[in-house]
Amino acid sequence: MLVLLILKWAIILSIIGLVAVSSVIIVKLMMAHNKYKHLPGPPRNSFLFGNLSLLQSVMKDETTFGEAFFELHKKYGPVVLIFALHKAVVSMTDPAIIKEVLTNDKYVKPAENYTVFVELFGERFGGYSLVSETNHEKWARHRRVLNPAFHRQYLRELMYIFNDSAGRMVQYLTTKADGKTEVSMVDTIGRVTVEAIAKAGFSMDEDMIFQKSTFRDAIALCFEAGRKVNIDPLLQYNPFKEARDYRAKTKEAIHLLRDTAERMIRQRLKDQQEGKKLPKDILSYIIKTAMVDEKFQMVEMVDDLSHFWSRLLEEIDTVIGDKEDLLYEDIAKLEYMMLCWHTVINQVLYHFLMFAGFERNTSAFSTRHWHRSKKPEELQCLGHRVPANTMLFLVTYVMCRQEQFFKDPLTFDPERFRRDEDSPLYTYFPFSMGSRSCIGQHFALIEARVVLVKLFQKLNLKLVPGQKLGMVDRLTMRPSSQCLHYITERSKSA
Ligand code: HEM
Repeated sequence: MLVLLILKWAIILSIIGLVAVSSVIIVKLMMAHNKYKHLPGPPRNSFLFGNLSLLQSVMKDETTFGEAFFELHKKYGPVVLIFALHKAVVSMTDPAIIKEVLTNDKYVKPAENYTVFVELFGERFGGYSLVSETNHEKWARHRRVLNPAFHRQYLRELMYIFNDSAGRMVQYLTTKADGKTEVSMVDTIGRVTVEAIAKAGFSMDEDMIFQKSTFRDAIALCFEAGRKVNIDPLLQYNPFKEARDYRAKTKEAIHLLRDTAERMIRQRLKDQQEGKKLPKDILSYIIKTAMVDEKFQMVEMVDDLSHFWSRLLEEIDTVIGDKEDLLYEDIAKLEYMMLCWHTVINQVLYHFLMFAGFERNTSAFSTRHWHRSKKPEELQCLGHRVPANTMLFLVTYVMCRQEQFFKDPLTFDPERFRRDEDSPLYTYFPFSMGSRSCIGQHFALIEARVVLVKLFQKLNLKLVPGQKLGMVDRLTMRPSSQCLHYITERSKSA
């Protein structure tokens, strides 16, 4: 009898609890919807889940966030509100606001967007690294230590690493240069990129170009898992075997990465203390510093590119010839190539941005940190009032496609970056801007140049016809296909 009574009350209390929680959620959502009702944007598909169909179409690879927001901005103007599930996100394409937000540290990165970098399936992954740290003071200290290691001056000393990795990439491609084998350039560039970072970063002695690398596979798996959790947060709790196995595999990969990093750091610290000569890499530099101081048609683009390649090849032949090891000065001598950095490579980043845009909060608020000293503030954008504590999306992808900022925005026109008037400020920012811009920008630019020069010194590439070429969102944007190419050696096919 007593058991029945307890059961009855347990059920009644559970129902009351459920009704109370649901009512709170409903009231909170109604208040949120009301708070933003003055802002333009597409109607919500669902009271609970907001503009779910937009998120679903990105998850199913039917579009990318960049393209989806491009369509929204075309329809609703420079300020667009969407609800990402329960969360209001205001996307903006006004250069004045972009400048204000990205160059002012009071607009912090929203911590909730970086949780998959911090930990995955309860396992610490990147932790509060430079990318994911949203506490400005902690981030600033961290960045001060790392900045010098990514300075051009220091990176030029690492040219031998870029030369070595890019050289072996060419050797690898040469083994496939029969003009018939379909070679995945996504995979090949992925190999050389991870290898160069691992070698320049911490002298990792592993051949990731010819050999299968468990280290590289582990990185790929963690990024894939991060994206899966973003799309399906319930994956973390899914009790089925397949999901449990996937979580276990991811955790194993995280252990491999973190254990390797820890082992290397410990060894390096020990070597430093014992007065041994440290290898020339970014880790050594950091250790030393830390000690002292606490819808675009791809095929058309390929046609446009042929003009660029011919000039580039001519220049590589005359300036570099067959020289095996490039010096930093050689790279500087490549006038067209240097120009290309501001033109062609910029143009490639312009069309194929790694990130469609960047998020910030309208005030110094993030779920992890509340900066008491700073009061939440509203933001005014082109006559629209954006409430305090709102997530902003500063969407360079959309701005790069707008006639008001770029002449013939969808034309592959490398010269546009030479004509300053054609590339207005605060519209194109592939490496973000302000204090949280990419620390690895020079690293990526030097490596890209060395890889390009080495590649076209020796090889010809021809796109395998009939591939569906496009972009997909995978935490960063990337090609949807493998970008298969036929390869021939230049001397033989010339
Ligand atoms: C073409 C290549 C690259 C592009 C387009 C790129 C782009 C970006 C962007 C847009 C951000 C800001 C992200 C945000 O606000 O959340 C960023 C941050 C960062 N990137 Fe890169 N990146 C590239 C290569 C690299 C490389 C090679 C490294 C390291 C070797 C690197 C290390 C970082 C780090 C540590 C941050 C965080 C900086 C901070 O918040 O202080 N990146 N990158």
